[in-house]
Amino acid sequence: MANVAVIGAQWGDEGKGKVVDWLASRADIVVRFQGGHNAGHTLVVGNETYRLSLLPSGVVRGKLGVIGNGVVLDPQALLSEIEKVAAQGLKVTPENLRIAENVPLILPLHPALDRARETARGEDKIGTTGRGIGPAYEDKVGRRSIRLCDLAEPETLSAKLDELLLHHNSLLRGLGAPEFSKKELLDGLLALAPKLLPYAEPVWERLDEARHSGKRVLFEGAQAVMLDVDHGTYPYVTSSNTVAGNAAGGAGIGPDAIGFVLGIAKAYTTRVGSGPFPSELHDETGKLLGERGREFGTVTGRPRRCGWFDACMVRQAVKVGGIQGLVLTKLDVLDGLPELKICTGYRINGETVKRLPAAFRAQAAAEPIYETLQGWSGSTRGARSYAELPAEAVKYVRRIEELVEAPIVLLSTSPERDDTIMMRDPFAG
Ligand code: IMP
Repeated sequence: MANVAVIGAQWGDEGKGKVVDWLASRADIVVRFQGGHNAGHTLVVGNETYRLSLLPSGVVRGKLGVIGNGVVLDPQALLSEIEKVAAQGLKVTPENLRIAENVPLILPLHPALDRARETARGEDKIGTTGRGIGPAYEDKVGRRSIRLCDLAEPETLSAKLDELLLHHNSLLRGLGAPEFSKKELLDGLLALAPKLLPYAEPVWERLDEARHSGKRVLFEGAQAVMLDVDHGTYPYVTSSNTVAGNAAGGAGIGPDAIGFVLGIAKAYTTRVGSGPFPSELHDETGKLLGERGREFGTVTGRPRRCGWFDACMVRQAVKVGGIQGLVLTKLDVLDGLPELKICTGYRINGETVKRLPAAFRAQAAAEPIYETLQGWSGSTRGARSYAELPAEAVKYVRRIEELVEAPIVLLSTSPERDDTIMMRDPFAG
């Protein structure tokens, strides 16, 4: 049996939660390998709705959750989330959650710097979640991070905080934001240490063992390919690599263990935060998609920008993200629209192109080229086979499949876990 990696194929919020939950019920271990509590997954299980940001979705299904080294971990956010799900009757302990000992931590100074920078950017702000994700990754590659394992060595922690504060307080001072005191940070971390250290371990060993004993591992991506720090709409991106290749480095396992790469795309497009969005709709249809699709950010509650399906962009995400099969979600949101458009390319300064360019101004200038398809009058909601779909809906799905150059292996037709049309079992490889 193969492992599976799940990644977003657009700008996030593609409905990964439901798909990951469905796959998690068939996996043994679920691993987060990048991002942090900027992510938001909503899982509906029976009468309970779980909103997870940092916890791997598998814990809801009684599976082992692993937070890999590629994540940036806010200890306070993790403990609050553990408390929140405990109130819903879900116990998270070191028995069902393991955290890479070398995971970098998000400290209170990271969100402070994130927000101070966004304020300083004014009109040009990136629209980050304000959770300190970017500054925490900067510290990781700057070799200044406090990592989970440092909590076991108070002297190391103290010396590393000196270095960290020299950097951060200079920046905060320059931005006119309040500085941080070493004592407060050190005391805070030492108080958290006994709560966090029981979860810490070299998770690469556990994953290696899992691999050799034939366990199924699900790698749960956060954000999406177009928010990838290299391949996305830079600088309007998150600060990690969201492509499937990073599942290996972010978990501590070889690339051959990633298995089947499943991309998730909505049947239309949404984006939160700033940045280019060629197929964005500023009209009544855009509003309708937002209302019907309940398009509000899980983490920040911000309304999402909405637009037509951009096949050109998803094709690009398929190629750079390593996507082998696609899940199309929220098809039912399009029910009843008289006609549908699919973006198949862009016109940029008079030229027709079939990919989103990397250059900032060229990206911003991209005008969508549309193909128009007939809508359907029937309902797709809750369909569990192709035979239950209106003919035009099947045509729409098939056309997307052709344009993005990847097979659609699953079709999700409502938020309910079982309202899914499966063409191929991703765990079968
Ligand atoms: P950051 O990850 O908080 O630094 O935010 C950078 C960009 O990524 C912003 O446009 C955010 O709105 C976006 N972003 C981060 N996490 C998510 C997510 O889980 N879904 C959708 N957008 C996200």
